[in-house]
Amino acid sequence: MTKEEIEKTITAFKDAAIRSKNAGFDVIEIHAAHGYLINEFLSPLSNHRTDEYGGSSEKRYRFLREIIDQIRSVWDGPLFVRISAHDYAEGGMTPEDYIEMARWMKTQEVDLIDVSSGAVVPARIDAFPGYQVPYAELLRKEADIPTGAVGLITSAVQAEEILKNGRADMILLARELLRDPYWPYRAAKELDVEMEVPKQYDRGWVF
Ligand SMILES: Cc1cc2nc3c(=O)[nH]c(=O)nc-3n(C[C@H](O)[C@H](O)[C@H](O)COP(=O)(O)O)c2cc1C
Repeated sequence: MTKEEIEKTITAFKDAAIRSKNAGFDVIEIHAAHGYLINEFLSPLSNHRTDEYGGSSEKRYRFLREIIDQIRSVWDGPLFVRISAHDYAEGGMTPEDYIEMARWMKTQEVDLIDVSSGAVVPARIDAFPGYQVPYAELLRKEADIPTGAVGLITSAVQAEEILKNGRADMILLARELLRDPYWPYRAAKELDVEMEVPKQYDRGWVF
């Protein structure tokens, strides 16, 4: 990318934030994970630039820094950033490497880091229940910033354990909600939590 293209892209993020605001969205999450463009700037495996956008971690972070600043100039609502905390490859980013960047995000008034992993380069990922939770836990503790945990979280008790033990501040589900769209209701019931439901669900939900 030329510097002009970088500038245009950063402005496009800002314009998207303005459109999101006008459309009434409650939260903006910047996607800096899963091998997409911002992730490619962050990781030394994909960022081989020799200008001010590549090299040291500070320079690789610069593209995201400018995007966050531009979005923050037009958006005062909740702002999340999704990261890939681990590249699972020699010479790539690790959760420890992200501590510094997470601290920078905090100073830029990012409200929460949504901690996923992988996809900058092909890698064998040893995925098991809650496998990405330790990364959310590490960044929460070391950078003192709220984090979200995602990845093979499937049961209410598992989700509650993560929250109650202070390992993350938010749980994100993907595939389990495809398998069971009623998961939030079942989880509330399992954990004996009262949940506000649409009126027509009331009679179906009281046993
Ligand atoms: C159908 C589908 C679409 C997804 N789309 C996105 C996406 O647009 N952005 C994203 O960050 N992750 C996306 N993901 C990844 C999920 O957010 C999540 O990180 C991943 O599925 C692991 O969580 P899980 O075990 O709860 O499914 C998607 C996953 C699925 C199954």
